[in-house]
Amino acid sequence: MNIHESEKIAGTLEYLGYTETKDSKEADIIVFNTCCIRDNAEKHALGNIGAVKHLKKSKPDLIVAVVGCMTQQDMAGVQLKEKFPFIDIILGTNNLDKLGECVLDIVNNRHKSILIDPNENPAIVEHQPVYRTSGTNAWLNIMYGCNNFCTYCIVPYVRGRERSRKMSDIMDEFKSLLDQGYQEITLLGQNVNSYGSNLDNGDNFARLLENIAKLDDYTKHRVRFMSSHPKDINMDIIDIIADSKSICNNIHLPIQSGSDKILQLMNRHYTRDHYLQIIDDIKKKIPDCGITTDIMVGFPYEEEEDFQDTLDIVRRVGFSSAFTFVYSIRRGTKAAVMPQVPAEVSKDRIQRLIKEQNAVTKAISKTYEGGVFEVLVEDINPKKEGFVCGRTDTGRLVNFQGNADLIGKFVDVKIEKTQSASLFGSIKE
Ligand code: 5AD
Ligand code: SF4
Repeated sequence: MNIHESEKIAGTLEYLGYTETKDSKEADIIVFNTCCIRDNAEKHALGNIGAVKHLKKSKPDLIVAVVGCMTQQDMAGVQLKEKFPFIDIILGTNNLDKLGECVLDIVNNRHKSILIDPNENPAIVEHQPVYRTSGTNAWLNIMYGCNNFCTYCIVPYVRGRERSRKMSDIMDEFKSLLDQGYQEITLLGQNVNSYGSNLDNGDNFARLLENIAKLDDYTKHRVRFMSSHPKDINMDIIDIIADSKSICNNIHLPIQSGSDKILQLMNRHYTRDHYLQIIDDIKKKIPDCGITTDIMVGFPYEEEEDFQDTLDIVRRVGFSSAFTFVYSIRRGTKAAVMPQVPAEVSKDRIQRLIKEQNAVTKAISKTYEGGVFEVLVEDINPKKEGFVCGRTDTGRLVNFQGNADLIGKFVDVKIEKTQSASLFGSIKE
């Protein structure tokens, strides 16, 4: 989501005539797109913003903007301005479309700083320029915001309520991305399964996928989506994925915890049995489906027994990979006032969780050995000259010999060797 928002920021700047530079000393404008989902993301942003102070000193005309989730928190805009008075523009996620106006204001009345109320009522702004940077894949927002209020999560506070884009706008953008030659499109939303909930016209995620699947033969392409919420995924969605050629057999389904007690405290609205049932349904309809997840340890009240439930579900489901996190207190959320788990306990648990998941990932990788899989070549392998990398439909990364001419092509690759999460093979002639 943030990467795509950065593409919109860059799109606005390109529209104003700016060009990209990799060297901050050369920049006329620097925009920090921040994230506040965990404490380390925030610290990272603050460190990077502080580091441009000297640039601004040596180049007073440099425009510095800070945008994104972090600024959207209570009072964060004012606090940022106090801490870093050299910031010229502060915008939230919901008024990013104002960036162009703000930059022009600064350029026309030098040294005038602007602070826009980051809590302005958000509206969906269509047709923003996008400067795409993601190679073969294009990101496509289908909705913004979140209504779920998981008790650990800051997102509903900083991104506001769920707003879905009109189906016709999404389909227009989808088709235009195919026309531009993108081989892969990833649909984005905090909880894509509740797409349409605010549209009052009966549109929902299954219908959107149905329309997307109608374009299966329009070009050769792949469709992915993230993230799904286990409480909202349903058989219609699973059936459409199973039947569509273009929608990948790859589902990201964050579980967060394997303990019913913790899931309830997290306000997740599903139990471990319900989650396992969904996994069963997916595996029956899409036997080779790559299932990935997000898991957290150290949530308030988590005891060893709860953590064991998490390890157990990791083994049972067989996630092809998992993003693993230590719970991080977010001010203003319900969990922030619950009794906290000591840091050393969380640290120990995350290491054990990663070890468990690595073993699962390794075992799943082994099942690919000897098989031939269609791979979309995404890039040259930066670590190994003469090699390229790409993904299977199920989302597994594959490395094999090849050159840059292959980027964007679909090739059949025979898997010869596997190493934890990575697969190695050669093109099948
Ligand atoms: N602490 C740790 N991880 C978090 N996530 C969301 N909020 C927090 C938090 N406060 C994780 C969840 C979510 C992913 C995007 O980030 O696992 O699925
Ligand atoms: Fe956060 Fe829960 Fe919404 Fe995901 S579904 S963004 S974890 S509140």
